[in-house]
Amino acid sequence: MLVDTIGDVVITNDGVTILKEMDIEHPAAKMMVEVAKTQDDEVGDGTTTAVVVAGELLKRAEDLLEQDVHPPTVIAHGYRLAADKAQELIKDIAIEVKADDVEMLGKIADTAMTGKGAEAAKEKLCDLVVRSVTMVADEDNTVDTDFIKIEKKVGGTIDDSEIIEGVVIDKERVHPPGMPKLVENAKILLLNAPVEYKKTEVDAEISITSPDQLQMFLDEEEKMIKAIVEKIIASGANVLVCQKGIDDIAQHYLAKAGILAIRRVKKSDMTKLSRATGASVVSSIDAIEESELGASGRVEEKKVSGEEMIFVTECINPKAVTLIVRGGTEHVVDELDRALEDALRVVSVAVEDKKFVAGGGAPEVEMSLRLREYAATVGGRAQLAIEAFAAALEIIPRTLAENAGLDPPIDMLVELRSEHEAGRKTAGLDVFDAKPTDMLVAGVIEPMRVKTQAIASAAEAAVMILRIDDVIASSGAGAGPSPEEMAAMGGMGGMGGMGGMPPGMM
Ligand SMILES: Nc1ncnc2c1ncn2[C@@H]1O[C@H](COP(=O)(O)OP(=O)(O)O)[C@@H](O)[C@H]1O
Ligand SMILES: [Mg+2]
Repeated sequence: MLVDTIGDVVITNDGVTILKEMDIEHPAAKMMVEVAKTQDDEVGDGTTTAVVVAGELLKRAEDLLEQDVHPPTVIAHGYRLAADKAQELIKDIAIEVKADDVEMLGKIADTAMTGKGAEAAKEKLCDLVVRSVTMVADEDNTVDTDFIKIEKKVGGTIDDSEIIEGVVIDKERVHPPGMPKLVENAKILLLNAPVEYKKTEVDAEISITSPDQLQMFLDEEEKMIKAIVEKIIASGANVLVCQKGIDDIAQHYLAKAGILAIRRVKKSDMTKLSRATGASVVSSIDAIEESELGASGRVEEKKVSGEEMIFVTECINPKAVTLIVRGGTEHVVDELDRALEDALRVVSVAVEDKKFVAGGGAPEVEMSLRLREYAATVGGRAQLAIEAFAAALEIIPRTLAENAGLDPPIDMLVELRSEHEAGRKTAGLDVFDAKPTDMLVAGVIEPMRVKTQAIASAAEAAVMILRIDDVIASSGAGAGPSPEEMAAMGGMGGMGGMGGMPPGMM
């Protein structure tokens, strides 16, 4: 639970969210946050893995420095060799998955959501994730997760979450009594201009000396608004989605014309609607033309959890889906949203790359073993660094063992190593059984890219930090590091704590 200065609370088990929300001063720790963010941007999952491995690499580097393996650049070089080798090794052990293998994709979604507060309805959520990704995937298997909109709605239970083919917008009609609730064969106008009387830019005072003049003035205003609405009607639109405001008088005329209108719609929703319906976003009243309109089979206002939402369905472009995520409280819904984001991303990555690896620490144990063999062939001081890298990767199975309640976790590690020595490359730790298990059989699998990216960014960050000789306070960057922080950075003395940093791994 993260609580900020004004008492706002975030409850999460998501590595990147924890780091983003944490108040971090230390410059090296800030780099760790960057590692997590890069991981999140690139693959959407494996953030804790990346950070924990980076921390462990630094801790092992510190040990080496204490054992007089100098200078740090030798270690950096060894780490780089190891990271490159590790990439090869992962590609070697990766397994093919077909882009339409929904069972495997479901397992990948399941692994990403384990431990993320989505447990209660995981089967259902995995199904939603896999269905939405396969719906928006192109023929060439590229997936743009921007097409998948997550609409959070507090109320109901996780089980009430659903997938809608189309775009759902959290708005209601501007004029419920007069406007249709349902429009079939919708002609949709997306307008990024106010349907209001234009206020003058300059401060002008108009003195009115008689009631007639006032009436004239008001009539004039109404005439202008009416002209705007007429322009909309003339275009043939029967649905108006406005990014700006819609005036009362305009609402009245729109309703009279049988047009369903919503206002103050978010820009991101406008973009999604534009893609889904083929409409362009028109940004001036004069530019309203029939050719700019989009189309969908059905636009309807429906109640979700007691609140009205607009459902734009049967769109021209079927590659637009909305997941309506439901849950008892805001915190539940927020955490579900994060879990779903992770799952959507990993499933998309798997569909794109068609490669996956076992989870539960299996690839880390395997890589560790192979890297030790490789280290021996390199020799010299680099060998020590590569061995340290190999040992650092074992932080993943070790942390999983710890989280599974195994004490001491080292026994499990020894068991896992011997499994791998015997050639069982997918042996990992099933946290629910707390024993070495073939992770493929247990269905704990992850896209290959989660691992390649995690290792690349962890190694990069560690190498970068290792190459720092000195930290110098610079101007303009706010307060800069404190003297203690500088001391910590310079001597790597502060780094020791970082290895013990694993947040909510799993
Ligand atoms: N049922 C499970 N048994 C064992 N390990 C699991 C299971 N589910 C997930 N994992 C592992 O948990 C780890 C989660 O790491 P990561 O994705 O980096 O954490 P987070 O998503 O919390 O940032 C991965 O190594 C994954 O293989
Ligand atoms: Mg994860």
